[in-house]
Amino acid sequence: MCGIVGYIGHREAYPIVIKGLHRLEYRGYDSAGIALFDGKELNLCKTKGKVADLETKFNGTTSTAGNVGIGHTRWATHGVPNDVNSHPHYSNSGNLVIIHNGIIENYSSLKKELKKRGYSFESDTDTEVLVNLIEDVMINEDVMLGKAVQIALNQTIGAYAITVFDKRKPNELVVARLGSPLAIGIGENEFFIASDASPFIEFTNNAIYLEDGEMAVVRLGKEIKVRKIHDDSFVDPYVQQLQMNLEQIEKGGYEHFMLKEIYEQPNAITDTYRGRMLVDEGIIRMAGVDDNIERIANAKRIIIVACGTSWHAGLVAEYIFEDLARIPVEVEYASEFRYRNPVIYENDVVIAISQSGETADTMAAIKLAKEKGAFVFGVCNVVGSSISRESHAGAYTHAGPEIGVASTKAFTTQITVLTLMALKLAKHRGTISDSGFRYHLQQLEAIPTKISKVLETTNEHIKEIAFKYKEAPNCLYLGRGYNFPVALEGALKLKEISYIHAEGYPAAEMKHGPIALIDEQMPVVVIATKVGHYDKVVSNIQEIKSRKGKIIAVVTEGDEAVKELADFVIEVPDTIESLTPLLTTIPMQLLSYHIAVMLEKNVDQPRNLAKSVTVE
Ligand code: G6P
Repeated sequence: MCGIVGYIGHREAYPIVIKGLHRLEYRGYDSAGIALFDGKELNLCKTKGKVADLETKFNGTTSTAGNVGIGHTRWATHGVPNDVNSHPHYSNSGNLVIIHNGIIENYSSLKKELKKRGYSFESDTDTEVLVNLIEDVMINEDVMLGKAVQIALNQTIGAYAITVFDKRKPNELVVARLGSPLAIGIGENEFFIASDASPFIEFTNNAIYLEDGEMAVVRLGKEIKVRKIHDDSFVDPYVQQLQMNLEQIEKGGYEHFMLKEIYEQPNAITDTYRGRMLVDEGIIRMAGVDDNIERIANAKRIIIVACGTSWHAGLVAEYIFEDLARIPVEVEYASEFRYRNPVIYENDVVIAISQSGETADTMAAIKLAKEKGAFVFGVCNVVGSSISRESHAGAYTHAGPEIGVASTKAFTTQITVLTLMALKLAKHRGTISDSGFRYHLQQLEAIPTKISKVLETTNEHIKEIAFKYKEAPNCLYLGRGYNFPVALEGALKLKEISYIHAEGYPAAEMKHGPIALIDEQMPVVVIATKVGHYDKVVSNIQEIKSRKGKIIAVVTEGDEAVKELADFVIEVPDTIESLTPLLTTIPMQLLSYHIAVMLEKNVDQPRNLAKSVTVE
């Protein structure tokens, strides 16, 4: 939620900051702003709306000169999205300026105190309180910016990634993080600050990711010194070599990132299993599992914590782990788990699934699990992310950057990693035969080619279906077994980007409620692959048909029976039941994508959402 960018060095800051904000817009996009220092003055421009609106507003009104700049793209928490609440925020003297991603929870009591001392506030934000608190510390304690930031942060409760600039000290930026990500890119006598590395990837491959509770004074001509906010002790910063490249974060000829990412899935899944799955040898190698095999394989129970689409991947994993490895699994919304006083045993294994690796609720859930002595295994996409660092062990999905807010390739690669893990555990525990194990590997290896086929053969047909049902006010998604979570995910995709109300249900539960909604207006998407309770699902389709519902069925290639009943069928290649979600998900993604495009919605940045939710 919210993206922050900063630059200090020898180049013009404006083009770097504005481009960086575009790249971070997935994190929030209800308002944006930039402050630049031209050697004499701080020039600030901010506006409600997108980064493109900010560019328009800059034109002719505000100077873009200067070699120091900080910028922000916002997902509102405190105060509605408007010009005044947009960041950056000045302190009362106008000397300091700040950008902030996160929430200062005790801002209201701090604001009251500051008001008593004569401070006034233009905005409703917690951030303006923080910058004035820093200013107040500087004045009262007669300290420099870095020290003042540290003292002020020790008085706050909440989460933050901040960058602060003092125009009287134009060669430094002060940064700090707790709960929200912050990376420092290190160039030749220039530094970049950002919520992730994408804004500076074309300038440097060297970056320091601050850990929670750390801050740094980034000063030109000096080495970066990182220290702990709470006790001022120095930390040895680890300079990471980035693996991301520019091409990966650009659209590459596709109209939207979401479409690009849907089409990237065959390669992404191959990247996920490459080097891990040795089909000929009949081996799966996963360092995070291998190093902890006894701990994980002997778990009495696996608890999966996640949010959103990652939670759906967790539901698919529940079927796979129980089915193959015979370990009981519970899947929890991280946000509920953390506040429920859950029973966690020391021999539990908690698997945290998160594309971004930054989701605040998931992070809090794993901290709780660790406190109670459980072993935490992280499944993340973003390398070096907070959750991956906080976990005892883990496995990356290697999907490459996912920019579209609606998650696609992250979901299928999460399922791939979790399938590998379940198979490995099953082999270790002796719950799968050698031939069964090898057969699963062969089937998994064939999935990318099958996804390519689904993309090739169904896309145009799905466009027609999308055209037919784009005006529907509601839509129902049904699936059973492994494909029940796919139904949930299909409904979520449609809601997220087309704003059509959609619900996912286990097909058999339809008769306990949703069937009342079915009439001739209601499109019902049913997953009815040959493997997985096929006959039962066909009966459910009959029930929909006899109530005049419109049926869009996802079936196995060559299916004739459902064709007779459905209004539309979408065919996917055959595979084993546990891998069907990797194929049946693809039409769900394409259907929601095409409907959203036809309805002229903002596919990559749907309203009110953000890609990385670093607040509770
Ligand atoms: C947000 C995104 C979803 C995502 C969820 C969990 O709500 O819009 O697409 O599934 O966060 O994110 P994570 O990064 O933890 O997988």
